Amino acid sequence: MRLILFGPPGAGKGTQANLLTERHDLAHISTGEIIRAAMKADSPLGDEARSYVTAGKLVPDTLVRKLAEDALAARDNDDFILDGYPRTLQQAQWLDEYLAENQAVLTAVVSLQVEDFIIVDRLSKRRVNKETGENYHLDFKPPPADVAPELIIQRPDDQAEAIETRLKDYRELTLPLEDYFRETGRLVEVDGVGTFEAVYERIQAALAARTVS
Ligand code: AP5
Ligand code: MG
Repeated sequence: MRLILFGPPGAGKGTQANLLTERHDLAHISTGEIIRAAMKADSPLGDEARSYVTAGKLVPDTLVRKLAEDALAARDNDDFILDGYPRTLQQAQWLDEYLAENQAVLTAVVSLQVEDFIIVDRLSKRRVNKETGENYHLDFKPPPADVAPELIIQRPDDQAEAIETRLKDYRELTLPLEDYFRETGRLVEVDGVGTFEAVYERIQAALAARTVS
């Protein structure tokens, strides 16, 4: 299976990708996670990306292209879930060229639909374990009591101003990709509001319906 999980910041892409990889033999390729790991390691890529990510802006296309293609190649271009890539029309065209060159056909682009007011609540209440990278939500998945409170942090791009920038950029630069994927028959829209399991079941059902039809 070759999947793209698509949707606005906070749509639940990471949450659902984790459930999918726990239950299927799939690799989770999150460009955001790769970039955050590079920032943590103070690598040249991390240093170049830091100011963009912290402000909630997209990092330059050329920078992300290489890390996405390297991660795909490491999985032999199969059995993956791409989370957070592509995010611009240029990235989508590069990805299609790359997949065509490698005879890899996408199974589907699952687009999680979530309204802005819910996104703002999810992102402002998200917390992250800075050592393990595990994500929490203060109401729906609170950090466990046995994790030291100093390990639980807020992502810098989950501050109110950065959330606003991310949502604006999403609407302007990323949302148009829905049409791109719809026109090429690959878009599957899934309601992203509900419990983690309810959303997961909807994704499974949508993928099953697609395989049958
Ligand atoms: P990235 O890490 O990809 O961030 P994002 O797309 O903004 O998405 P998030 O990770 O914030 O949200 P998510 O959809 O994964 O939701 P999650 O499951 O965590 O990218 C970060 C940055 O890297 C970008 O801003 C950019 O700078 C750079 N970057 C990355 N890729 C790039 C690219 N291709 N091009 C250019 N730049 C790039 O859920 C969010 C919260 O909600 C959590 O607290 C979770 O517990 C909770 N939640 C999830 N599902 C539910 C539910 N069903 N009900 C209630 N709460 C829920
Ligand atoms: Mg994520």
